[in-house]
Amino acid sequence: MPSTKKNKRKRPERPTIHPRNKYSDKPPDFALLASLYPSFKPFVFYSRDGRPRIDWTDFNSTRELTRILLLHDHGLDWWIPDGQLCPTVPNRSNYIHWIEDLLSSEIIPKSNGTDVVKGFDIGTGANCIYPLLGASLLGWSFVGSDVTDVALEWAERNVRNNPHISELIEIRKVSLSQNTLQPEGGCDESVNGEGEMAVNRSVVGEPEPLPLTSAAQSAVVDEKYCGPPILLGVVREGESFDFCMCNPPFFENMEEAGLNPKTACGGTCEEMVCPGGEKAFITRITEDSIALKDSFRWFTSMVGRKTNLKFLTVKLREVGVTIVKTTEFVQGQTCRWGLAWSFIPPVRKIISPQITEKSILSFTVEGLQRQFSAINVLQYIESFFCSSGASSKLNTASFVVDITASNEHCDKILKQVMHSSEAASCYPEAREQEIHGPGCLQPPNNFCARISVFQQIPGTLLVKGSLLHNDNPLSGLFPSIMQRLEETLRYKFCRGRGTLD
Ligand SMILES: C[S@@+](CC[C@H](N)C(=O)[O-])C[C@H]1O[C@@H](n2cnc3c(N)ncnc32)[C@H](O)[C@@H]1O
Repeated sequence: MPSTKKNKRKRPERPTIHPRNKYSDKPPDFALLASLYPSFKPFVFYSRDGRPRIDWTDFNSTRELTRILLLHDHGLDWWIPDGQLCPTVPNRSNYIHWIEDLLSSEIIPKSNGTDVVKGFDIGTGANCIYPLLGASLLGWSFVGSDVTDVALEWAERNVRNNPHISELIEIRKVSLSQNTLQPEGGCDESVNGEGEMAVNRSVVGEPEPLPLTSAAQSAVVDEKYCGPPILLGVVREGESFDFCMCNPPFFENMEEAGLNPKTACGGTCEEMVCPGGEKAFITRITEDSIALKDSFRWFTSMVGRKTNLKFLTVKLREVGVTIVKTTEFVQGQTCRWGLAWSFIPPVRKIISPQITEKSILSFTVEGLQRQFSAINVLQYIESFFCSSGASSKLNTASFVVDITASNEHCDKILKQVMHSSEAASCYPEAREQEIHGPGCLQPPNNFCARISVFQQIPGTLLVKGSLLHNDNPLSGLFPSIMQRLEETLRYKFCRGRGTLD
């Protein structure tokens, strides 16, 4: 059997970590950290191959790792109470560096002053992670807003405990203004015992926030967001910022969040859930941004679902923004997006991402039936291509399948009516190639693509296809093949659509 090493070919790198991220060259060394910090030692164990590991499903372990990384690599003194959302430092740093790129790019004119960069972190959380990272890494100043007592108390505490940057960070309580609609249904007390959302506060002695416009109010009704103010009503008269950022409450309800007290990163109902989910929350930010377009150079948010990213991008174009930028944040098998927009006229023409990224197409598979997981979908994708005679190479460690298909195979893929029995049995010759074959290196006119599967949130997967050679004649079939795959996966795996069996 030929060595697999010999057949190794150059593969496109998945964007995983920003090049300026402290951890881009060297991931955290758990063994070293355990030797330096005795409190971290009990959480580190060694796998059979001798590699130090931690239990990512243990909240105490992930919290201690975050504490140690912030201390060791960023000189920050940090803590959060049990159950609060625990951030992963490399992942959160990616968002900060992406904003740094936006600010330093020449897409819109750079700000004139030499003033300190000023950001607004919507929903800073008890962990206050973005202001802490932004201030310590780049010297940025921040207003970090939140609505819950626990978030405000601990964010303040985390700022106070770091006197070297505390001057740069203001924690701002969001008060429920008279004009703001009341939430119809907050969080279920029985779920985490923390009671309803603490939003109705009066703030004394602070400048009046800008009032909500009727347009913003009607948008709120349309998109079901009915929580406390987000930007409008919180940003004060005369204030201006270089950017806002937000890691929004992603879910519409606790069931969707699939919250469980044992989840590694914690996260209370107030942190994870809002009526209408992230779509409503970010839609509200877009509506607020119209009224505040002169107060921010860039508006940005994290987005958890590809479908919402598409929806929001279209919405932004409708409201007349001058620029929309997106990026992908990949960590392990989790994928999130960054969405940025501005109302400032650009200084140079931007090539639309659709044009530059034609060789990458993706779709989400939502409402995955409970009995299926990402690995089932991955294996099914392999069978989907094999059953047409194409060769495929499955890598379960990185959750990718590499496909090589001739003209005839592509034809079959596009015409096939899938039956599970067909999908389950690959053609023997295809299997043979899968194990030993040199994949896309021969013959040169084959259609070659890599399909990756990412877990987004419970019940939702992102399937991404990357064309490996977009200069051969079969590349034009890529969109149709991806569409066929999408239809088949939805039909096979999603609730309410039946299965092919
Ligand atoms: C997913 S957590 C993000 C926490 C932190 N920024 C992070 O990335 O780990 C969302 C936060 O938004 C807060 N939040 C919800 N509605 C808000 C609003 N209208 N204004 C400000 N914060 C809000 C929640 O209390 C929670 O702390």
